[in-house]
Amino acid sequence: MATSTPTSGDGAAHDAPAETRRRRYRVHHLARAKESGERITMLTAYDAMSAAIFDAAGIDLLLVGDSIGNTMHGHTTTLPVTVDDMIPAARAVAGAAPHSLVVVDLPFGSYEAGPEQALGTAVRFMKETGAAAVKLEGGRRCAAQIRAITDAGIPVVGHLGFTPQSEHALGGHRVQGRGDEAAEALWADALAVQEAGAVAVVLEMVPVDVAARATETLRIPTIGIGAGPRTDGQVLVWTDMAGMTEWTPRFARRFAELGAALREAAQEYASEVRAGTFPDAAHSFER
Ligand code: KIV
Repeated sequence: MATSTPTSGDGAAHDAPAETRRRRYRVHHLARAKESGERITMLTAYDAMSAAIFDAAGIDLLLVGDSIGNTMHGHTTTLPVTVDDMIPAARAVAGAAPHSLVVVDLPFGSYEAGPEQALGTAVRFMKETGAAAVKLEGGRRCAAQIRAITDAGIPVVGHLGFTPQSEHALGGHRVQGRGDEAAEALWADALAVQEAGAVAVVLEMVPVDVAARATETLRIPTIGIGAGPRTDGQVLVWTDMAGMTEWTPRFARRFAELGAALREAAQEYASEVRAGTFPDAAHSFER
């Protein structure tokens, strides 16, 4: 599924002309982007086919999100997603994305018990998938987990604001960090995530000014989803971005209408099969 151009150890293509050679995106590129102001792009991916397309499109980071539960497994929340669900998905994405930095979500129940559990899950992901980083939800309450994983040489991306694994505690999909007290709590969480060693932090469904403060003050990049334009980068769930579903969250834009295009293709296919016009001679074999 990956681009057919061979790549060297650092992901640079051997036989592509120099101007089209692309290097693998690594954590130091995140720091560099923060410094230079170059915006960071991130999309979710859950399989080899979409990962190869997004890698070829030049997306910097691919997130094997636990949103796989909602988007691919038909759950209404991310809570049922397991480590065993994530591993084949992460392996497929990492194997098909020679350039993007692949980040894997630690699913609910795989890190909350403490640093030892978190490190065990992160190590499994690194050994068994080929991903380059992990992401986990939570601020001060997860600082020890972030520190333990980071100390083992595994890059961690934090996730604050609306954290879908806590949706029942948060009262559903609600903007977080509204009001002075909530904004201060979010800020304390952001600092804790940074001080614990995270390489970046996702801010989900937070007011623009709260995201802007984090972006302007933190040393690590902020990656927004429903956090407005004043972040260092942006992440979207790819099925929202590509218009695969009828409903789209307010913060996401449909950059295509793939759901409708796929439905039309399937209808056309079915009607040609029913009419006996497919397969025709051009799609058949002679003796
Ligand atoms: O799982 C996911 O897709 C995520 C994004 C919403 C950031 O965590």
